[in-house]
Amino acid sequence: MSEPLPGSDVVAATAVAHVNIALIKYWGKAEENLILPRTSSLSLTLDDLYTTTTVAFTAPGGTGASKDTVMLDGAALSGSPLNRIHDFLDLVRGRAAQAGSPVGFARVETFNTVPTAAGLASSASGFAALAGAASAAAGLDLSPRELSRLARRGSGSASRSIFGGLAVWHAGHDDESSFAEPVPGDLDLAIIVLVIDAGPKAVSSREAMRRTVATSPDYNAWVERSADDLREALSAIAAGNIARLGAVSESNAWGMHAAMRSAMPPVNYLTANSITAVDAVREIREAGAPAWATMDAGPNVKVLTSATAADEVEASLRGRLTGVIPGLRTIVARSGPGLEVRSVAGAIAPMTR
Ligand code: DP6
Repeated sequence: MSEPLPGSDVVAATAVAHVNIALIKYWGKAEENLILPRTSSLSLTLDDLYTTTTVAFTAPGGTGASKDTVMLDGAALSGSPLNRIHDFLDLVRGRAAQAGSPVGFARVETFNTVPTAAGLASSASGFAALAGAASAAAGLDLSPRELSRLARRGSGSASRSIFGGLAVWHAGHDDESSFAEPVPGDLDLAIIVLVIDAGPKAVSSREAMRRTVATSPDYNAWVERSADDLREALSAIAAGNIARLGAVSESNAWGMHAAMRSAMPPVNYLTANSITAVDAVREIREAGAPAWATMDAGPNVKVLTSATAADEVEASLRGRLTGVIPGLRTIVARSGPGLEVRSVAGAIAPMTR
């Protein structure tokens, strides 16, 4: 998947990974460094929201770069977002060195079709794409499961974006046993994203989960019911029953938000407009539409529906919410593909999305 450029010390690869939205949530770590979660989770990978990332490594001790550089949507990253990517690249460098083909610093260029840090899971697609591009550029030939474990080290939810469609991330108990894999099934699902506010969040999900685990009296109860919720969700998928899947997903999300709201100090990502949107989802559901809400670490509301009903559900939500939620934007996304390592480039050239 990667090859050195003739006459150059640069090896590069490009990968595309899609956003996933959790239906049964990951919220809280059992181990921070390895990113081992307290619960297993389930998600749907989406088609139209993705990250494209190119990684070029210099040879160790090669000329040119003296540190990792990362361009996100054309702007250079610095500070802790850069450090987080640097630490992740260190994992890849460690493995390349172990495999006998060490690599040096990296130039990373990444483009999102999602508003970064707006609760739209750009870290999931971001670290999945980075895992794919960096491992290929470093000459590592990883299996999908190994890629899922590697992506997990960048951001837990990224473990699921290695796969298309529905994916379950098994919590596991160590690095080897904590990975995602696809869930077979015939449900043709879609997610409508109601973009209520695309601005960056005030509290990072990493910090918010830490606080929830450490202080919320409701957290352990949510962890316990989560195992039942996942069993119910998988059984609903196997039975092709979207109503059961939607009901348990919505309830699991509320449980997660309830636990973070009783943390000390409380974490609240939902705004009055989020609640208005969830109410509208309930109203159209009571009127017969297949629609269930789920919310993550931000004010936006995602609506689970069927691929066939998606356009109609979106139109009726827009009808109810336009003028009520100022500036509301909607995105209709259907089930999307898994990680793709697309091309090998000699140098980072301008990329098209
Ligand atoms: C609410 O995967 O972003 O979206 O592992 O700390 O990077 P870190 O967290 P992250 O958390 C995602 C939380 C969530 C639920 C989910 O995607 O399962």
